[in-house]
Amino acid sequence: MTQIADIRFEAVDTDTLAEMPGLIAVLVGEGGKMDAQARRVNTLTRKALARAVDSEAFTKAKPGDVIRLAFPAGLAADAILVVKSGPKPDQTTARRIGAQLAKAQGKHPLCVLMGQTGSAEDVALGLALRGYKFTDHKSDKGDGPGPVTLMVADPEAVAKAARTGMAVAEGVVFTRDLVNEPANVLTTDDFAARLAAMQELGLEVEILEEDDLKALGMRALLAVGQGSASPSKVVVMQWNGGGDEAPFALVGKGVVFDTGGISLKPGANMEDMTMDMGGAGVVAGVMRTLALRKAKANVVGIVGIVENMPSGTAYRPGDVLTSMKGDTIEVVNTDAEGRLVLADVLWYTQDRFKPTGMINLATLTGAMLVALGHENAGVFSNSDDLAGAFLKAAGSEGEGAWRMPLAPAYDKIIDSHIADMKNSGGRHAGSITAAQFLKRFVKDDVPWCHLDIAGVASVKAETALAPKGATGWGVMALNRLIADRYES
Ligand code: BES
Ligand code: MN
Ligand code: ZN
Repeated sequence: MTQIADIRFEAVDTDTLAEMPGLIAVLVGEGGKMDAQARRVNTLTRKALARAVDSEAFTKAKPGDVIRLAFPAGLAADAILVVKSGPKPDQTTARRIGAQLAKAQGKHPLCVLMGQTGSAEDVALGLALRGYKFTDHKSDKGDGPGPVTLMVADPEAVAKAARTGMAVAEGVVFTRDLVNEPANVLTTDDFAARLAAMQELGLEVEILEEDDLKALGMRALLAVGQGSASPSKVVVMQWNGGGDEAPFALVGKGVVFDTGGISLKPGANMEDMTMDMGGAGVVAGVMRTLALRKAKANVVGIVGIVENMPSGTAYRPGDVLTSMKGDTIEVVNTDAEGRLVLADVLWYTQDRFKPTGMINLATLTGAMLVALGHENAGVFSNSDDLAGAFLKAAGSEGEGAWRMPLAPAYDKIIDSHIADMKNSGGRHAGSITAAQFLKRFVKDDVPWCHLDIAGVASVKAETALAPKGATGWGVMALNRLIADRYES
């Protein structure tokens, strides 16, 4: 797994400042207010800091912006990073400060004078998340991020508060690595093995192989994978940190590569389909975070892992499949494969675990990008209560999510002449008809959300807390939802 930055918390010691190597970051309040640490740096640099703070660049800067003062006289450091922190940075600003520092840091050691700013744990989280770099397949892996020290008034208390944040960062990074990994490396076997390795963290992990899936009747899921040389699997991850109440369930689409199958996708950008296991990746990341922070809740994460390939053994358009539920499905497009995988995994999850609620995640439809772009995931739900709680959690973690409709009129579009339903309703309302398909495999009394993350799982330009590529979207929101709603 990609290593996250090594972040330490130490008591303020301004006597060592003059000799400190690397980079020294100073947080300066909105009106240019300097605390004792900043004033010390100002004195050592013969008022260079005050000049920077008085400059037009600093006045115009937004909270979180960084101005670099290179090779300052009076200090051994290579540069001072002057950070505009605002009066009392909220969570978003504190994370942004960390993220901007990670970008400015490179391989240098970094010491951040937090002063009275508070929210050091959010600065640390921003540093850890934005410092991420996926270099596994580069010959030159660079040096990785240098060590970080945050100078705070009460290092023990901050370190304790930051531990939860680091469990979150590890979950997000685990998800990003999985999503960034190419499909010749992250095969179905490799994916399952990485999940099984999480047993070390106290998770209970079971791998269901093709024979098990056949015996369970998961013929929709198996059909998707039957054209691939890699075997299909379902992996069950349980975290039992609560009492003996029924668990909350997270379900993920794990298509390690989606060629479209016999309904082959066009060549342009097909390589992006290495991220089609993004839903399963988020489920795995959340389970990792829950285990690392020893969450006091029962949560089960279940993922369907398959590869959608065209071959002599592949399923075809026109095939009729019988799902584990018993409902029959006419395949009109082998590229609408994610819903077939989820149909069986959702049914299995309810059948075996009787969950108190269920959220599935999937890079399900290209239409989601047409509707919401890269800014928001689509939220489809049969429960205003659960959807509201999720939207609130996502909002408080800065992860975009937007409610989308479900309605019987959309459901009609996927009725089939020869089977109970067909697997695609065509282009119009493509994300909604996909959600309606999933809804047919959710029991009415189970509060459920479907999160279509096709637009947010992996992006072409950096975001607030992630470089270009996999984002880990959803790990923070789901972790927050579980903490707020299922842990007392
Ligand atoms: N994995 C794709 C959806 C997707 C597209 C995710 C772009 C991320 C970026 C999914 O399996 C798919 O192919 N969906 C089809 C459905 C259609 C055939 C009804 C689509 O969106 O075109
Ligand atoms: Mn597809
Ligand atoms: Zn797909």
